[in-house]
Amino acid sequence: MESSRVAVVVEGLIEEFSISEDRALSLKEVISRFRLARHRKTVRALDDISFEIAPEESVGLIGANGSGKSTLLRCIAGILPPTRGNVLVAGSVSSLIELGAGFHSELTGRENVLLAGALFGLTRAQLDEKFDAIVDFAEVREEIDQPIRSYSSGMYVRLGFSLAVHVEPSIFLIDEVLAVGDENFQRKCIRRIAEMNELGVTIIFVSHDLGLIRKVCRRCILLHEGRLAEDGEPEPVIKTYLQLID
Ligand SMILES: Nc1ncnc2c1ncn2[C@@H]1O[C@H](COP(=O)(O)OP(=O)(O)OP(=O)(O)O)[C@@H](O)[C@H]1O
Ligand SMILES: [Mg+2]
Repeated sequence: MESSRVAVVVEGLIEEFSISEDRALSLKEVISRFRLARHRKTVRALDDISFEIAPEESVGLIGANGSGKSTLLRCIAGILPPTRGNVLVAGSVSSLIELGAGFHSELTGRENVLLAGALFGLTRAQLDEKFDAIVDFAEVREEIDQPIRSYSSGMYVRLGFSLAVHVEPSIFLIDEVLAVGDENFQRKCIRRIAEMNELGVTIIFVSHDLGLIRKVCRRCILLHEGRLAEDGEPEPVIKTYLQLID
């Protein structure tokens, strides 16, 4: 693949977490660094993952709970540095990764939009220009000057989604979140994702809802216990997934 036609390259990606063993430690063990270190173990969440995604693609990431989907998205978003291997991303990434990503609960919706937009690199003028569209798409006009902590989870996700699509990313990562919105908002989001994809935005979409995966994605990657099990057209990959979890 020509390098100018690649949006995301993942090469030999290994991601490991160090976790402490689930048992009570004695005081002596706690104060002894050496001992403490021996009771930590390494979990390999992603094991030698490689693939490339072209700019115009919409890719579904599927797999059972704990198979590594969110970890992979975090690596692509640049939130997690790879333990080994490489993740290369061409362009700006906007991500909706689980609830709680980004917003500050004590700030109002308006303040959060302005802050998050600025962090994404938009100027105040650009934000002022987009602000109404962001609020209207999210349908939170009445609540926009309330602190985020008073938002329902659906309102929170709607505002997050709206912001994420209005910052005009070249790569858009979505982890689950759509399940929180109501039917009507979900439909609106899917339409919006499809429009963005048509305009050349790369979509990487994680969901357990295979109906949504079929609607949004034209390629699927199946993760199984941290490994890439299958990569290709949605139907055969979904079939393998259903066999795996059966
Ligand atoms: N911060 C962390 N510290 C330790 N282990 C972690 C951490 N994040 C993820 N893991 C482990 O990595 C593995 C993959 O987790 P991940 O969240 O990527 O799975 P997932 O495919 O997104 O699952 P789900 O469908 O439940 O969202 C799991 O074994 C999980 O326990
Ligand atoms: Mg997950």
